[in-house]
Amino acid sequence: MDDLERLADEIADADTVVALTGAGISAPSGVPTFRGDDGVWARFDEGQFTYGRFQRDPAGFWRDRLELYETMFGDGFEPNPAHEALAALARDGHLEAILTQNTDGLHARAAETVADGDENASNQSGAELLELHGNAHRVRCVQCGRRKPNEPILERVRDGDVPPRCECGGVFKPDVVLFGEQLSPATLPRSRSLARESGVFLAIGSSLFVEPAASLPRQAAQTGGTVGIVNLEETERDRDASVVVRGDVVDLLPRLQGLVVDDEH
Ligand code: APR
Repeated sequence: MDDLERLADEIADADTVVALTGAGISAPSGVPTFRGDDGVWARFDEGQFTYGRFQRDPAGFWRDRLELYETMFGDGFEPNPAHEALAALARDGHLEAILTQNTDGLHARAAETVADGDENASNQSGAELLELHGNAHRVRCVQCGRRKPNEPILERVRDGDVPPRCECGGVFKPDVVLFGEQLSPATLPRSRSLARESGVFLAIGSSLFVEPAASLPRQAAQTGGTVGIVNLEETERDRDASVVVRGDVVDLLPRLQGLVVDDEH
């Protein structure tokens, strides 16, 4: 039995399976990852995207943010078979929650695609989705808290209206967690309790470099969960895993999902 088959067996038998995902699951969709030679942080200075910079210089922040957004999302992108494999596991009741560090919204779109394709998908199936770092396609007013789709706001930034302001006069901020900013208060405790409850904890397409996500696999292992890391390269936390599967998510996750389905029959 190879590692993928072992992981599939554990998922099929587990009561609670949780998946943590990172930029690597969206790489096959054309969304660039952050680290590595051609990563976003090799092309942009992450110091320009901190919460402190946003507070000091919101106009300059927004000009740089527009360029970053267009680099990451400008060419349009769709869910890929790895997103859809997780959505199928969720639809079939094998995935309790997806904790994603990604802000691209692709897990939610994959869940819609998979549900549309399955006439008897009951609406209560599916996984709880926690967007740990927010969602790049929304903005939020720092004064009144109002959220809006970001496209019209980006248009205003393109036209030089920086920083873009809400009707209340407050400045809009991308609805993502910036470096130096806290996660939304409910997200971290919920993520930690899901990790502790999980019988199987998958870490997929993440370098496991950034906290608090990086510590979740170890928290799952400490309460007896089987930790499976699925990643193209070695991660910072491979030592916390009982199974490490090296390879491309777009090949591995559909195979894993198929093996879980086979286990059921
Ligand atoms: N299949 C499997 N793994 C892949 C693939 C692929 N097709 N492509 C890339 N990877 C792996 C890389 O080897 C790398 O280890 O995905 C990982 C992506 O790591 P990062 O670029 O560091 O992204 P991530 O772990 O999500 O970063 C976490 O850092 O900058 C912040 O807020 C940002 O959410 C992000 C956080």
